[in-house]
Amino acid sequence: MSIEVAVVPAAGRGTRMRPATRVVPKALIPVVDRPAIQYAVEESVRGGAREVILIVDPGVGVLAERHFWEEGPLPGLADVKITPVVQEIPHGLGDAVLTAREVVADRPFFCVLADNIPPPGGDVLPGMAAAFDDTSVVCLRRLTPDFLERYGVIVPGAWRDRDVVEVRGAVEKPGAAHAPSDLGLIGRYLFTPDVFSILESLPAGVGGEIQLTDAIAELGETGRCLGFVAGQDLLDIGNPLGLLEASTVLGLSHEEWGAEYRTYLADVVGEM
Ligand code: G1P
Repeated sequence: MSIEVAVVPAAGRGTRMRPATRVVPKALIPVVDRPAIQYAVEESVRGGAREVILIVDPGVGVLAERHFWEEGPLPGLADVKITPVVQEIPHGLGDAVLTAREVVADRPFFCVLADNIPPPGGDVLPGMAAAFDDTSVVCLRRLTPDFLERYGVIVPGAWRDRDVVEVRGAVEKPGAAHAPSDLGLIGRYLFTPDVFSILESLPAGVGGEIQLTDAIAELGETGRCLGFVAGQDLLDIGNPLGLLEASTVLGLSHEEWGAEYRTYLADVVGEM
């Protein structure tokens, strides 16, 4: 089934990226030649979306507006409807997604976190859309123990296919001692609109925030969620080393400068 709308939560403060994010919002940090948020929009469009809802804080809203509209349409995005929705006070990722409720209405939607970028050829949204069977689908990766405190982790049920598993529950950042499995939530989701009524009634979770993972737990416990295991990791630009790695991978495959950059990098490494 084709999923026509995507929600991109982009109101995060980027505390792991200080001092870069003291003034520049995390979603506008450039990676190679475009801001992080543009990668999320382009990925959504490659996944089939024709409408992208950006959840922004008032500061990002003004800048995103300039980036996507005032300068004229960006290549490949002229026919895409991009709608900013302002989240006035941040109450966590679950609350950010809930902010999109009115615009999404009764449609299934992708949720794409701008902190992660697929490597070239590593898109996961098409695989998630293919696994979609009128219940929500979350994207998963097998995590090593030290990552279990950084990601939401699911309780797996029966396997439907080599890479599709029933989700029975989920825990936000449980850590190795309490993790129910090694299958982590990597920031790509395909939700049915019933997630909004769950989010609306959730109490604050870990860190006093409304956690998206707690809504996934409820979807799973009531038999309304599948997991799609991605073939490769996404690039994590939410920390300085990850940003460097992502810039290298995306720079090396850049159409215009990739070859030149490869030679440069080989020279630099050779001299060290
Ligand atoms: C968020 C989610 C977490 C998920 C992660 C993926 O955490 O709360 O469940 O595993 O994104 O990147 P954050 O990275 O915002 O702390």
